[in-house]
Amino acid sequence: MIRFDVLTLFPDLFAGYLSQSLLKLAIQAGLVQVHLWNIRDWSKDKHQRVDDRPFGGGPGMVMMAEPVVDCVEAVRAKAEPAGRLLMMTPTGRRLDQRLVEELAAEPRLLLLCGRYEGFDDRIRQVLTPTEVSIGDYVCNGGEVPAMAVIDTTIRLIPGVLGDEGSAADDSHSEPGRLEYPQYTRPRTYRELDVPDVLLGGNHRAIAAWRREQSAKRSEESS
Ligand code: ADE
Repeated sequence: MIRFDVLTLFPDLFAGYLSQSLLKLAIQAGLVQVHLWNIRDWSKDKHQRVDDRPFGGGPGMVMMAEPVVDCVEAVRAKAEPAGRLLMMTPTGRRLDQRLVEELAAEPRLLLLCGRYEGFDDRIRQVLTPTEVSIGDYVCNGGEVPAMAVIDTTIRLIPGVLGDEGSAADDSHSEPGRLEYPQYTRPRTYRELDVPDVLLGGNHRAIAAWRREQSAKRSEESS
C-alpha cells in the first residue's frame, strides 16, 4: 500500500486520471490511496488568495509561503507516517527510473503542485522537500508532473500490474536499457512481417533475440 496526498490549486484535474485503468483498479484493490487537497482551503485571505506579486518586480505571481506551509503541515498531520514531501518544480532532481524506485519504497508521498511563476523560496527553506522535475521543460503547473510521479510509481507496487505484467522487463528497469520490440496479430501488416523467431515457439531463441534487440536499441539511443 502506498498513499499519495496531492496538494494543488486544481484538484479537479485529477478526476479523470484517477478514475481510469490501472490506477482505478489499484485504488479499488486497496493497493493505492490518493487524497486530494486544495491549497486554497488554507488561505487566510478573505478572497482566498494563495499567490501574490514577486518582490523586486517581474512577471507573474508567486505562491505565498503561509497557505502552502499550513496546508502541508495540516495534511501531514492527518495520517501516519508524516510521509516524504515532493515539491514539483522544473529546477528539481530529474525524475528517472532510479528515483521512481526510491519513491515506490515509501509508504506515503505528499506531492506539492505549484502554479504561477513558482513558490516563495521560504516554502523550500521551511519544509526541505525533495524537489522533483520531470524534465527540462516548463509545464503550466505541477499537476501533470505529479501524475507522472504517481503513474510511474504505482507500476512498482506489488500487485498493481497483476500476474501478467512485470515491471522487470520494462525499459529503463536497468539504467539505459530499452525494451525489445513487441508484435501482435496480424502476422503481416502493410507488407511488414513479424520476425520468424517469434512465431517458432523456441523460447531460448526468442529470449536470445530479445536480448539482442534490447541491446541494439539501447545502443542506438545512447
Ligand atoms: N512544474 C512546471 N514544470 C515542471 C517540470 N518540468 N517538472 C516538475 N514540475 C514542474
